[in-house]
Amino acid sequence: MPRNDNDNKRNFAHGLLLDDAQDFQIVEAYKNLRTNLTFALSTSDSRIMVISSAEPSAGKSYTTANLAITMAQTGSRVLILDADLRKPTQHKLFDVNNLIGLSRLLSGHTMVIDEALQKGVAENVDLIPSGPIPPNPSELLGHARMKELLDKLTENYDYILIDTPPVNVVSDSILLMQYAAGVLLVVRQRQTAFNEIREAIEKYRSVDAPTLGVVVTDVKTNVRGYGNYRYRYYEYK
Ligand SMILES: Nc1ncnc2c1ncn2[C@@H]1O[C@H](COP(=O)(O)OP(=O)(O)OP(=O)(O)O)[C@@H](O)[C@H]1O
Ligand SMILES: [Mg+2]
Repeated sequence: MPRNDNDNKRNFAHGLLLDDAQDFQIVEAYKNLRTNLTFALSTSDSRIMVISSAEPSAGKSYTTANLAITMAQTGSRVLILDADLRKPTQHKLFDVNNLIGLSRLLSGHTMVIDEALQKGVAENVDLIPSGPIPPNPSELLGHARMKELLDKLTENYDYILIDTPPVNVVSDSILLMQYAAGVLLVVRQRQTAFNEIREAIEKYRSVDAPTLGVVVTDVKTNVRGYGNYRYRYYEYK
């Protein structure tokens, strides 16, 4: 996704596409991503997508949130599931409480999905935040309750986007691939090393998980776009 060279931090402190005031090129980049992913998913039985990266801080959580908002704008019902049970952020991005969420559902503290659901965080977008950070994230994500939960959620949503921790650090996202159509890999320009990308792709390949695409964040080039912005579209392969 593009970056504003002049004030990147300010831009992404308010980086959700929740209003019309966002830059045209950022909005267009997400729309292109939506189109490509819709095609990629059209041949799959699953409408569940895992969003991950090789290393920390690549931009997974923002990409997940903005992609969900953009996918929902065509009328699709979209759910964000925060499965980063180690460093969750979706509840912060959407400013909702995180007292009950995925960790509570998976640990059996509650079986009522509605208790964990934050409805309408954006138009047509619901969120299940992580819930309190548990001592055993991998065990919870690998629990049979995860399948039960996703089976129920699939009945109510057109797309489920799962935010996860970086795959080269912990293997949590690998556990989820059995349910997903594939993984969307987020790569940060000037940060993610080529061998890290290769390692991440190999990890998914080892469990036969398709890579649906690669999103490059924080792109900086000398190509001048519209107006005064030195933006470039994300690259998607
Ligand atoms: N497309 C982008 N361009 C520039 N900066 C971005 C972009 N997306 C996110 N950021 C910034 O990068 C930082 C990390 O973003 P984010 O939390 O989405 O990454 P992450 O991959 O989810 O991190 P973690 O591995 O900790 O879960 C944030 O401070 C955010 O402001
Ligand atoms: Mg994150």
